[in-house]
Amino acid sequence: MTESATADTPRLPPGTRLHPALQSLGMLVARRATTAAMRRRYGSAFTLRLPPFGRIVVVSDPALVKQLFTTKPSIAGNAEPNLGRVLGDGSIFNLDGEAHRQRRKLLTPPFHGRRLKAYEGLMAEEALREAATWPQGREIETLEPFMRITLNIILRAVFGARGKELDELRELLPRMVELGSRLALLPESGLLVSVVNPRGRYQALRRRYDEVVEGLIAGALADPRLEERDDVLAMLVQSRYEDGEPMSHRHVADELFTLLAAGHETTATTLAWTVERLRRHPRLLHRLVEEVDAGGSELRHATILEVQRTRPVIVATARQVKAPSMRLGEWVIPRGYGVMVSIDLVQRDESAFPHADRFDPDRFVGAAPDTYAWIPFGGGTRRCVGAAFATLEMDVVLRTLLQEFELRTTYEPGERWHSRGVAFAPAKGGRAVVHRRSAPARVTVDVRDAAARTVPA
Ligand code: HEM
Repeated sequence: MTESATADTPRLPPGTRLHPALQSLGMLVARRATTAAMRRRYGSAFTLRLPPFGRIVVVSDPALVKQLFTTKPSIAGNAEPNLGRVLGDGSIFNLDGEAHRQRRKLLTPPFHGRRLKAYEGLMAEEALREAATWPQGREIETLEPFMRITLNIILRAVFGARGKELDELRELLPRMVELGSRLALLPESGLLVSVVNPRGRYQALRRRYDEVVEGLIAGALADPRLEERDDVLAMLVQSRYEDGEPMSHRHVADELFTLLAAGHETTATTLAWTVERLRRHPRLLHRLVEEVDAGGSELRHATILEVQRTRPVIVATARQVKAPSMRLGEWVIPRGYGVMVSIDLVQRDESAFPHADRFDPDRFVGAAPDTYAWIPFGGGTRRCVGAAFATLEMDVVLRTLLQEFELRTTYEPGERWHSRGVAFAPAKGGRAVVHRRSAPARVTVDVRDAAARTVPA
């Protein structure tokens, strides 16, 4: 890791003289436009004053991003406040340093290797089940059905939920995520918070959620086949920290909710953007259909990478300076400052992505994306735990759609970006018109083989 702690005199990137309240308002109501305007004016590093969150340096140069993501957490650690205040004390978003490292160790195995492979079948099943209900020949919003698919996948893969608990969580969790997403953007206190008071409603939902999860944990602990189960809940209740202690039930509940909140809407909105892009790129769509029919996947994988580059659903992530000061490129940033990476701006950097405004999946065919310029999953010790899970899920769902449907293309302008709180979605929900393919293909999943094979029906 880069040693970047210093006790030097602060040297901050330039910033606007605009009143701090207006800077906060700009970031609250027009985050992307505000950071883009600041970048045009001040370059790839600038300083914002955002009461009540404090002072923040925003960076969008891949070299600075690399330095930040490789700096020790004791120097650039978890940002405060963070999503933990909504998701709970036991959420990984709330942890820093050693506690964070240990939690990552517990959380990583369920999302990699053999475990991940075990989820592919249920992902294909959920995608097919939802696709069977899509109407033909009339315009639909795809975001909503994608939300159902990703919710069902997480409820099965992460919570191991079935029957009435599955039904109850299916109803409860989207409401909690929606309300939580709004709470995450609001300060802890103030006029707006006391007038709107979303916290009370949120806490009532959370109490019911805790009861359902307590029931799932009790069921898991009493399950004689617990060791054979693949769901994350079963793995977490069996896991032990390095000192041999198990996770408390409260922390298991916080973490499961975290996984759902972090993984459900992000994946669904990326899929909705994928549909939105493909409808406007007929040649690409044609090549993808040819590829899927031939059992290939390279262009599809590249397409997902390019959707995530050009339409990142999370547009920023942040760290906070914990050392007396931190050197970042030519800047020296004092303790307590936030350092925000604008994912959105980094991924439009011309030096990293020539013709960055062009939607061109071929740039990733046969070429892996750069770790510090292609960052939709963030980076460093806090990089998204569910990145491999989400990538597999998006691939399986897109593959299923290409096999099942003909997607009608359009000359309409691209959908605008719409903030849903934490994630950015296509403003019209990724509208699509589909027709069932005349010779539909069925997906069979061979768990020994990464690529699913298509069998003509
Ligand atoms: C396309 C889908 C997704 C996107 C774009 C996304 C994006 C992100 C980003 C930007 C971060 C912050 C990383 C950083 O600060 O460096 C993050 C963290 C995280 N994500 Fe994802 N994510 C996705 C799907 C998922 C899924 C499916 C899961 C789990 C089921 C998940 C679980 C998490 C967790 C637990 C963290 C916190 C990691 C930590 O603090 O150590 N995400 N994600």
